[in-house]
Amino acid sequence: MDILTVRTVTKRFGGLTAVSDVNLDVRDREIHGIIGPNGAGKTTLFNVISGAYAPTSGTVTFNGRTINGKKPHEIAQLGLVRTFQRNAMFPTYSVLENVLLARHLQAKQGLFKAVFASDRKQRAKNLERALEILEFMELIDQKDTLASSMAHGHQRILGIANALAVEPKLIMLDEPVAGMNPTETALVTDHIRRLRDDWGITVVLVEHDMRTVMGTCDRITVLSLGEKLMEGLPGEVASDPRVIEAYLGSDEWDL
Ligand SMILES: Nc1ncnc2c1ncn2[C@@H]1O[C@H](COP(=O)(O)OP(=O)(O)O)[C@@H](O)[C@H]1O
Ligand SMILES: [Mg+2]
Repeated sequence: MDILTVRTVTKRFGGLTAVSDVNLDVRDREIHGIIGPNGAGKTTLFNVISGAYAPTSGTVTFNGRTINGKKPHEIAQLGLVRTFQRNAMFPTYSVLENVLLARHLQAKQGLFKAVFASDRKQRAKNLERALEILEFMELIDQKDTLASSMAHGHQRILGIANALAVEPKLIMLDEPVAGMNPTETALVTDHIRRLRDDWGITVVLVEHDMRTVMGTCDRITVLSLGEKLMEGLPGEVASDPRVIEAYLGSDEWDL
């Protein structure tokens, strides 16, 4: 079953077509990678799906509902949440406060109105859920640590924990391992896999680092110059001459 369907989506900025007639099918509980060289339209497509941009044309369906044209917080309420490469966390707050705050901010947008009633029982429940998320993300030992003083890899994992606070069915990650060393990368990709394996969350990740994508994703969609080049299993994508050609012209060739 597909949880996310993108149909003939085009996004133009003035005269520039950043995304052209793209189709994408993400299956429930898969880790789906969107890759492509610089300028391929990855971030634009990501922004269209998460509601930051309305598409110029085309439709986006999530969990059986049309979401194009909806605002990001409305889409989050339906269970599709994105993380940002930066601003994924609140640097001047503790790790635990981060997750509580992420829940609270979402509540302000209308999601947990009932949940955030000033009811003490409910507050206790929120705390319990935040602790559960930190336990799952293996951040519990750092719950009182200031977010800004954590190691880079842990900050990124906290960004994911904050997204989990909103109880998503699908989480979209924007270059989750950008700027990381191999140890940090392994830590983060391990946590990404656990989202799917243990909590059944579908993951869509945009990444230019081919190696990460190959080792983490079940299926991959390749964009080039705004168009969808192909979709397939990691092995199929890595050996496809069209993909190799698209990457060869860029400075990101890293297989
Ligand atoms: N807000 C914008 N305004 C104008 N052009 C944009 C905007 N965002 C992206 N573009 C252009 O759209 C194309 C695709 O960009 P982007 O989606 O960022 O690609 P990628 O993330 O794959 O590197 C590029 O040519 C880029 O310059
Ligand atoms: Mg980008």
